[in-house]
Amino acid sequence: MSQSDIAMIGLGVMGKSLALNLLDHDFAVSGYDIQATHRAHTQEEAIALGKGLYVNAGNLDQLLASLKSPRILVLSVPAGAPVDSAIDSLIEAGLEARDIVIDTGNSLWTDSEARERKYYGKLRFFSTAVSGGEAGARHGPALMASGDLSAWSSIRPMWEAIAAKVDSNGLPLPSFEDGEPCAAYLGPAGAGHYVKMVHNGIEYADMQLICEAYQMMSDVLGMSPNEVGEVFEQWNHGELNSYLMEISADILKTTDPETGQPFVSIVLDKAGQKGTGLWTAVNSLQEGSPAPTIAQAVFARAQSAQKSLRIKASTLIDMPTDCGMNPNNTYEKEAVLAALKDALYCAKISVYAQGFALMKEKSDKENWQLDMAQIAKTWRAGCIIRAAILHQITLAFDAEPTIAHLLFAKPFIRVLSEKSLGWRKTVAQAAMSGVPAPGISASLHYVDTLRTATLPANLLQAQRDYFGAHTYARVDCDESRRFHFSWHDVPREEVEF
Ligand code: 6PG
Repeated sequence: MSQSDIAMIGLGVMGKSLALNLLDHDFAVSGYDIQATHRAHTQEEAIALGKGLYVNAGNLDQLLASLKSPRILVLSVPAGAPVDSAIDSLIEAGLEARDIVIDTGNSLWTDSEARERKYYGKLRFFSTAVSGGEAGARHGPALMASGDLSAWSSIRPMWEAIAAKVDSNGLPLPSFEDGEPCAAYLGPAGAGHYVKMVHNGIEYADMQLICEAYQMMSDVLGMSPNEVGEVFEQWNHGELNSYLMEISADILKTTDPETGQPFVSIVLDKAGQKGTGLWTAVNSLQEGSPAPTIAQAVFARAQSAQKSLRIKASTLIDMPTDCGMNPNNTYEKEAVLAALKDALYCAKISVYAQGFALMKEKSDKENWQLDMAQIAKTWRAGCIIRAAILHQITLAFDAEPTIAHLLFAKPFIRVLSEKSLGWRKTVAQAAMSGVPAPGISASLHYVDTLRTATLPANLLQAQRDYFGAHTYARVDCDESRRFHFSWHDVPREEVEF
């Protein structure tokens, strides 16, 4: 009998967790995976849960036959070719034009757009980017939906039920408590995955900022991982509250059971990446909407991976540094920590502002009409970058939905004015101590560049004209008029094009 509300294809960690989450909310779910072990595990856990109704499909025909019409099928398969091959198999198995297929992987947004075109008329293609890892998928993820709007009304009740929730103050609620769901329809195909891509770019940058603060505390102040963890825990109770800060404190306070050493000291300092931060950085370059901290975070991971080169360089390149402080002096230590705390908060604001500016640029270009307040709301719980600051960002966009730049919002102008001195001191301290802080510095340079009315690009433009006759605009007439200066002639003169 066709009874299931929804089907999950791909029962790995994320697919299984989403399926169990749906069951927990009393939906009838069918599951299928090419691997029999994944099917068996999910069935066992579904039986143990004892909620909803679970159908363990042995093949795609059984899966399709088990669903109510229109059929809603969720793909939880690796991004890229596996998504297309899963959809093609479903079409072969008898998918119909009104059926809905939802891609939940970390797909490249242009792939989602191409899929909507490719499958138009064959099925209703929809995408939902999921954030929150395994625990989020199981107990409340952030869901960024986009695609065929006619499909949203069928999907919405399920997504809103399983998503993370916030209370009226924007604070995350425990699983199963009623509140505002962190699930939203963001726009046409591609928009949801684009927003998730920027989410991941911000994730890379925020992780990098926290790591730089840890290194400053270790290398400049000589603090142990446990001490740094204690400070992070304290900071997590205030404006710096975030999931990433919380887990960093926990990690730093953890001891390796095997060696008795701080856990972080047994982890090799080579970072991996699956590519979504890189996509954000590349896209920011392509759009001409700078996200330098995100780019620096990607570079920092790449440079961390060059471990043997760094070891060699550390023995060869000796550059004088001047820490200029005595870490044993409690007063100085407290002053450095206070400055670092302000630096971290300002840098975080800068990162979010870069990400939102990039989304605005893209949205305007593609006419997606992304609702920035809605995006901020969707990120307040469930996702990896959930943080107290997202409530402030939501309020800023709610107050002024068409604001040209997040940093123009009065509360952020005030924070930057009050805390930027600590930020500058931290960047200077890092440079003088020879401790790399590319993210904290890039964030500051972004804001300083933004607030500089006249940049040296006048000289740069003249240089371009000098060697390549690339022309320039003048400050004293309309910008559309182009001029070239005959640098290599005698006498030199200006010609208008
Ligand atoms: C999330 C995460 C998740 C994952 C990314 C980043 O929102 O749940 O962003 O999607 O952690 O794939 O992974 P990398 O650090 O390996 O690029």
